[in-house]
Amino acid sequence: MTEEQLKSIQLPKHIGIIMDGNGRWAKQRGLERTEGHKAGAKTFRRICDYGADLGIEVMTFYAFSTENWRRPPKEVAAIMKLFKEYLEEATSRENENEMRGIRLQLIGEKKGLPDDIVKLLNALEKSSADKDVMTVNLAINYGGRDEILHAFKALGSKVKSGEINPDKQTEDDISANLFTAGQPDPDLIIRPSGEYRLSNFMTWQSAYSEFWFSDILWPDFTTDDLDTAILDYCRRNRRFGGV
Ligand code: FPP
Repeated sequence: MTEEQLKSIQLPKHIGIIMDGNGRWAKQRGLERTEGHKAGAKTFRRICDYGADLGIEVMTFYAFSTENWRRPPKEVAAIMKLFKEYLEEATSRENENEMRGIRLQLIGEKKGLPDDIVKLLNALEKSSADKDVMTVNLAINYGGRDEILHAFKALGSKVKSGEINPDKQTEDDISANLFTAGQPDPDLIIRPSGEYRLSNFMTWQSAYSEFWFSDILWPDFTTDDLDTAILDYCRRNRRFGGV
């Protein structure tokens, strides 16, 4: 995006991305699916850094859903290995102060994830907590319905302890008990790879999101594609139910 363009638009504060199409990308090239995930992880790094360059406040990357455990164990293991490699790399970049002000956090259930990944995530969440250039939400072991259930249980126990009055609960109470508590809802949700569904991504938060779909497979997604999605988004008229 040119400086001119950047100056003339109002950037979305929060962009959510459903990283899809790795398997098909690999198949098209006669490669194993895991090669597609490797290429997808490279794209993730590029798009993440570019988002920080542009000045996006929050980016959420859907990397592994609560349903993805149904994949063959070999594929799940390969994806977990990629997460671990990225988290190790982010840890050393963070130690060298090279994470460029990126705050990293998991949205999803830590329970069920491999111990080494949870350890790395906990440490990174802590060490990057005060970074304020951009927040990156890694949606791993994430499901939108699971997240709402999580909030429902948390609110239930607050009602039980008398901390909140059930008759006075508001939508904001639900938002404040999601993994994304305190963050703006996604203005723009991007799904490449030719699928037109949300697949349990940000179920609550996406009520007024704008969607951008494309046939591009995630490993082929470029910073120019992100620009196109953002510029398309900027041309839309968001009415939030008004006129
Ligand atoms: C969906 O493509 C992709 C996944 C379930 C895994 C996403 C993982 C990565 C992009 C790599 C690791 C990321 C990080 C954060 C380091 P698919 O396999 O469903 O593709 P298909 O629909 O073409 O089969």
